[in-house]
Amino acid sequence: KRIVVLYGGRADEHSISCISTAGVLGALDTDRFEAIPIGITKDGKWIVDGEDPRGWNLDGGTLPVVEKTAGARDAVLDVALGQDGFFARNADGTLESLGHIDAVFPVLHGPYGEDGTVQGLLEMMNVPYVGCGVFASAACMDKHYTKVVLAAAGIPTAPGVMVDARTVKPAAALEQVEQAELTYPLFVKPSRAGSSFGVTKVEEARTREEQIEKLGSAIAEAGKHDWKVLIEQGIDGREIECAVLCAHPGDEPEASWPGEIVLDHNDDDQFYDFDSKYMDATASHVEVPANLPVSVLEDVRDVARRAFVAVDGAGLSRVDTFVQPDGSVMVNEINTMPGFTPISMYPKAWDATGVSYTELITRLIEGVLR
Ligand code: DAL
Ligand code: MG
Repeated sequence: KRIVVLYGGRADEHSISCISTAGVLGALDTDRFEAIPIGITKDGKWIVDGEDPRGWNLDGGTLPVVEKTAGARDAVLDVALGQDGFFARNADGTLESLGHIDAVFPVLHGPYGEDGTVQGLLEMMNVPYVGCGVFASAACMDKHYTKVVLAAAGIPTAPGVMVDARTVKPAAALEQVEQAELTYPLFVKPSRAGSSFGVTKVEEARTREEQIEKLGSAIAEAGKHDWKVLIEQGIDGREIECAVLCAHPGDEPEASWPGEIVLDHNDDDQFYDFDSKYMDATASHVEVPANLPVSVLEDVRDVARRAFVAVDGAGLSRVDTFVQPDGSVMVNEINTMPGFTPISMYPKAWDATGVSYTELITRLIEGVLR
């Protein structure tokens, strides 16, 4: 079976997608599947025959980027041709078919990849693809709408308010925070981003002026990634992540043992931001199952499955939760295309639950084949 693997993309999480793709290609059962990697540059150009993603990793402190290097060719899609609609453009302008494609695995994180846009393109082409469809992808990419959908299903999330970074006055944002009775610390986040890009923790300040200033600069920082900014109440709880798998449409979703990212140097002021996630990957490790009573782990699995169903999930998602000191479980966010990097929870959680990385990728792909 011939599988197009899409990677890179226009989002801030471009490089994370590249490293996830190295993981997925490395785990792919090559007796069963032939991978046709198609990279998407940061400015949205699709290419084939680029640098081999298999060599990419998190070591060395530099992040990989998809570029149209010498030898790379433009990838051209003919939406009307469906599964035969994938081509490469030669130097002389002629199109060369990439052959019949059995499925696409969009290993893309963030907007224009994990948000329903690519999923919509593939729906129009009538090509099977791994993962959530248009609605679930869009709903989970936007942390604000994730809350709206989950609230309707009775699944708790952290209280928060939305502001428009383009127009909001910091003092007005603080008033919104007060009206909603949010307590400190606050987390100010772009509504549609991932990998902790643009997230700032805002502590309670001594004076109102100082509070307005802190909140204002946090909103400006988040606003670099998305004008839609979420101000959330920080939750006193452990961040516990659960991998959900529903490879075949219509099956009951399965939940892995929940895991926890344990920081090796615990610093109370620090949170798990982009640098501590990816640039200093040795500073943390993954623990599956998380060190919690089995009854709490079962509650997390139950909430994760329910959240997946509530957003109309398909294929896979990693549901990130907060487990509060009293054992109650709240959903933080749902990642419809979770990381597949060497430090990522999704494949590790399944491995610890008895599904190896290769079997996981096989099940995800086979589940959508026609
Ligand atoms: N958004 C990153 C890739 C994750 O959730 O793993
Ligand atoms: Mg995310």
